[in-house]
Amino acid sequence: MEMEKLVSLCKRRGFMFQSSEIYGGINGFWDYGPLGVELKRNIKDAWWRDMVTGHDDLAQLPGAPAAYEMTGLDCTIIMHPQVWKCSGHYDLFHDYMVDCRESKKRYRHDQIQGRWVEAKDKKIFATAGSDSESPEADIERQALKFFGMRSKNADELKWDGPLVSLTTVDDFEQVLGPDAKSLGTLTPPREFNLMFKTTIGALGGEADTAFLRPETAQGIFVNFKNVVDSSRVRVPFGIAQVGKSFRNEITPRNFTFRSREFEQMEIEFFCHPDSSQEWYRYWRERRFQWYKDMGLDEGKLILREHDPEELAHYSIGTADIEYAFPFLPEGEYGELEGIAHRGDFDLRSHMEGKLDPSTNPMTVELNEEGKPKHRGSGKDLSYRDDITGERFVPHVVEPSAGADRATLAFLCEAFTEDEAPDDKGNMQTRTVMKLHPRIAPIKAAIFPLVKKDGMPEMAQDIYRSLKKDWNVFYDEKGAVGRRYRRQDEAGTPFCITIDGESMQDQTVTIRHRDTLEQWRVKADDLSGELRKLIG
Ligand code: GAP
Repeated sequence: MEMEKLVSLCKRRGFMFQSSEIYGGINGFWDYGPLGVELKRNIKDAWWRDMVTGHDDLAQLPGAPAAYEMTGLDCTIIMHPQVWKCSGHYDLFHDYMVDCRESKKRYRHDQIQGRWVEAKDKKIFATAGSDSESPEADIERQALKFFGMRSKNADELKWDGPLVSLTTVDDFEQVLGPDAKSLGTLTPPREFNLMFKTTIGALGGEADTAFLRPETAQGIFVNFKNVVDSSRVRVPFGIAQVGKSFRNEITPRNFTFRSREFEQMEIEFFCHPDSSQEWYRYWRERRFQWYKDMGLDEGKLILREHDPEELAHYSIGTADIEYAFPFLPEGEYGELEGIAHRGDFDLRSHMEGKLDPSTNPMTVELNEEGKPKHRGSGKDLSYRDDITGERFVPHVVEPSAGADRATLAFLCEAFTEDEAPDDKGNMQTRTVMKLHPRIAPIKAAIFPLVKKDGMPEMAQDIYRSLKKDWNVFYDEKGAVGRRYRRQDEAGTPFCITIDGESMQDQTVTIRHRDTLEQWRVKADDLSGELRKLIG
C-alpha cells in the first residue's frame, strides 16, 4: 500500500488533518476530522471496555496467574514538578541531537545514517536524514555532489562498509551532513530534554516552571495510595488511564506515528514481586492478542523482546508489540505498545526519592552533599495484604499503548483497493476501508433507493430508531452506487437500502462492505441483526 494514498484519503474523507493547516501547519501536531474523531474514540472505548469495565474481576482469565481487579483514573496533564524529578524524566528523558551549522537543520543523532566512501584520495562519511525513503541512493547522490562527479561515474566511488548510524562515528570533521555541501558542519551531540515546559501563575519565575506530562503513567503511581484507600482493590490489580501526553520530539515524522502531542492508553498493574514474572508474560500475550482481535493481520505484528543488555537490572523484561507500518522499509516494524516490567522503581522513587537504577539493590540517588538528589514524597506507598498480613512494595507490569499509533495501524490495515460493480454493473476499482465494525466511525448507512414513493419516510424512521444505539448515517442524494462508494471509503461496514419491495413487505436489504453480499431482513429485525454483526 502506498502511504500517499492513505494520507490523501484521510484528508479527503475527514479522518485526519494537519493541525493549523490554514497557517501552513505545525510540525508534529495532528487534528482528527469528523470520521477520525469517531474512529479514535471507538478504539479508546474498545480498549477501556476490554481492559477495564468489561473485565471480569471474579474469573481467572486464560494465562493469568490469578483473578484480578481493574479500575481507572483520569489525572491532570500538569502535575507537581517533583513528580518528574522522582520519575527520572527530569534527568534522563532526553534524546541526543546534532545541529548543522550550514543548513541550520536539527537531527536526532541516532537517526542519521551514513556510509564511508572514498574518491579522489579523500575519505568521507556521507549521510542521509531520518526522513530519507532510500538512504543508500540519497547518500550516493550526496557523495557524487561533494566530489563533483557525475552519476555515470558512480562506479568510481569506493564504499567502505554498510549503512551505519552516525553514533558509530567519532570524528565529525569527516562527516558530510544530510543537507550540507561541506564537511564538518555538524555540531557534537547535545542532550535535549523531551518534556515541554510551561509556567504556572502570573509571576513566571524558575520556581513556577512545570511540565506537560510525557506519559500518563506517573499520575497512576502518585495516586496508588488514594486508589487503594478509596476503592478497596486488593493486589493484584490494575489502574488504567487514557489521556494526552506531550513530547518535544526532535524529528516528528511518519504522519501521526511520532507526534509531539498524542494520546496514551496505559495500565499500571500492581502485583506481588514473587508473581511479577508470570504477570509480565500474561500481559504480553493479552495485549498482543487484543490487536489481532481488533483486526490487525498477525503476519504484520511481532512481539519483540528487548535484549537483556537493554534492560535496567530491576526489570525482568520489556517487550514491544510492533507493526509493519507501510512507511517503513520491508522487514522493519514500528512500536505500537511497550509492555515493561518496572519492578518497584516507581513506587519507591515517589516514596523515598529518585532511585539510582544502576545500583543493586537500588538505593536513593544522592547529590554532592550526600542528600537525596530528588526528594520523594515521604508517604508510605507500600501495601499490606490484609489476609496474609504481609507488607511489601508491589511490583509493576506496564502495558503502555499509543491511541494515535493504534489508530494509524488500523487505518493502514484497513486501506484496500479492490473491484466492485458500478450502477451499470461494470466492474470499477474501489477504495474501501475494511475497519473492524467495532471501531468503524459509522456503523451503518441508510439509503432510500429513490426520493419518492414513501421510501425516504421509511428510511428516516429506521435511521431514527437505529440512531438510539449507534452512529448511523442517512443519505438520499445521488445514485445508490455512488452512495455505497462514499461509505466504503468511510469504512462503514453495512449499508441498508429501502426499495420498492420494502414498501410491500417491510423488508430491507443489508449490504456487507467487504463481501458485497446483500440479503433481506425484516425492518423490525434490523436492530438485532446489526447487533450480531457489529459484535
Ligand atoms: N509509560 C511508558 C511509556 O510512556 P513509551 O514506550 O515511551 O512508554 C508508550 O510510550 C507508547 O506511547 C508507545 O508504544 C507509542 O504507542 C506511544 N508513543 C510514544 N511516543 C509517541 C509519539 N511521539 N507519538 C505518538 N505515539 C507515541
